[in-house]
Amino acid sequence: MNDPNGLVYFKGEYHLFYQYTVNSTSPDFPHMHWGHAVSQDLVHWNELPPAIAPDKDGAIFSGSAVVDINNTSGFFDQEGSGLVAFYTNEGNQAQPGKPQVQSLAYSRDQGRTWTKFEGNPVLFPASETPDFRDPKVFWHEESSKWVMVLAARDRVEFFTSKDLKSWSYASEFGSKVTGVHRGVFECPDIVQISVDNDPNKTKWVLILSVGDLNGESGNDPEPPAGGSGMMYFIGHFDGQSFVPDKAIESIDDIQWIDFGSDFYAAVTWNGIPHEDGRAIWIGWMNNWRYAKELPSLEWRGNMSLPREIQLKAYPEGLRMIQKPVTELGKLRNPILNLTELTVNAGDNPLSETTALKAEIIGEFEIGSATEFGFKVRKSSSQETVIGYDVVKEELFLDRTNHGSSDFHRDFAAKHTAPLKSENKRIQLTIYLDGSNIELFVNQGSIVITDLIFPDFESQGLELYALGGEVKVISLQINEITGIWE
Ligand code: FRU
Repeated sequence: MNDPNGLVYFKGEYHLFYQYTVNSTSPDFPHMHWGHAVSQDLVHWNELPPAIAPDKDGAIFSGSAVVDINNTSGFFDQEGSGLVAFYTNEGNQAQPGKPQVQSLAYSRDQGRTWTKFEGNPVLFPASETPDFRDPKVFWHEESSKWVMVLAARDRVEFFTSKDLKSWSYASEFGSKVTGVHRGVFECPDIVQISVDNDPNKTKWVLILSVGDLNGESGNDPEPPAGGSGMMYFIGHFDGQSFVPDKAIESIDDIQWIDFGSDFYAAVTWNGIPHEDGRAIWIGWMNNWRYAKELPSLEWRGNMSLPREIQLKAYPEGLRMIQKPVTELGKLRNPILNLTELTVNAGDNPLSETTALKAEIIGEFEIGSATEFGFKVRKSSSQETVIGYDVVKEELFLDRTNHGSSDFHRDFAAKHTAPLKSENKRIQLTIYLDGSNIELFVNQGSIVITDLIFPDFESQGLELYALGGEVKVISLQINEITGIWE
């Protein structure tokens, strides 16, 4: 699997569609389907048969789904409401030089079966281009219109509609932003989020994935960990165009979403009930740099944990923060709880503990140590280190020695994020799950998402300090029970 698609909540179910290659562990772009899974709690998932299959109009690339509550489309005369999915037909031959067009399908039975609209495609690019894809459609309350944002190579384009079937061009964003339009934009999203949890104070966040240029990016910016990655812009959207709060003048003005290598194509759920009000998303845990070569056999590609995104005011400005959804607490099984412990160089208070699927929540006060942190999935020859370099003021996840990396030369690497410690305190929350590591630092203001491939037997854990001591204010380790058990 690759990108999440068609994320929508409807009648008690969270739908997760996704780019799905049937009968192959490598992306088979000409035959791409939408796979399908549903959940009632964002934690336990049921896999359903593939939802939308390719045909003469092309492969089924990424897109979104909406609940047409008031039957604006006219597809739901009997039911009153239903689901409408938007996807890119890749390889479309209707117009020369325009292989990517937008099409729709609707479902009258809660997403179980889909009918492709006979008027497809509903949107062509204005001029010849190979890149015009990944429509995200949502209802814009203030202007009482549907809005579609899609990726058009070096920019995103906005379109509006009253009936989901005919679309008018509204505006673009990105082509004039200096230095930002490296590679090709993919999977855009735009979402209104409250600031500091205050429902009366909201901002619009434009979210973009940017493809990998395989080292040919010239002077354009690379995501912090290289390859493909995600950026965001905070600003205002009036239903027609997006205006960032701060002019984007150089690559230093770009805010990156993840400092790890493996969080891509994340988009938010449509249809979350007002009384819930959260912005929730999920991302594909991978990187196009090596996605086709991961050392996995029966399946390849997985999603991240579902995360809530929020905006928080910091002295340097508004920033996105991310937290795994609280529903995951259902899987928690406490195995260790420590408070007020000093760790000196050479100590390992976790020498008796192992962790394969675990949640590790620690708060530290930096003493004389020059570096401290955790070593996870450890054996005599393997380890992944998650730590803080006090001297460089840098957080890091070092997977150079995680396991076998011979499948790709860029995989074994240390991923870093700048971090000044507030009052000498640092909070680290780590989720380990087989090959996945998701690290959330200081309330989710920094996130590092990385894959690792250690041997199954490498399950040791270490809490270490170098060059001095670190104080553990609190440390909780919870086993995470499997959702399939
Ligand atoms: C992003 C992407 C999308 C495209 C899909 C194809 O990962 O390249 O732009 O629609 O994957 O599978």
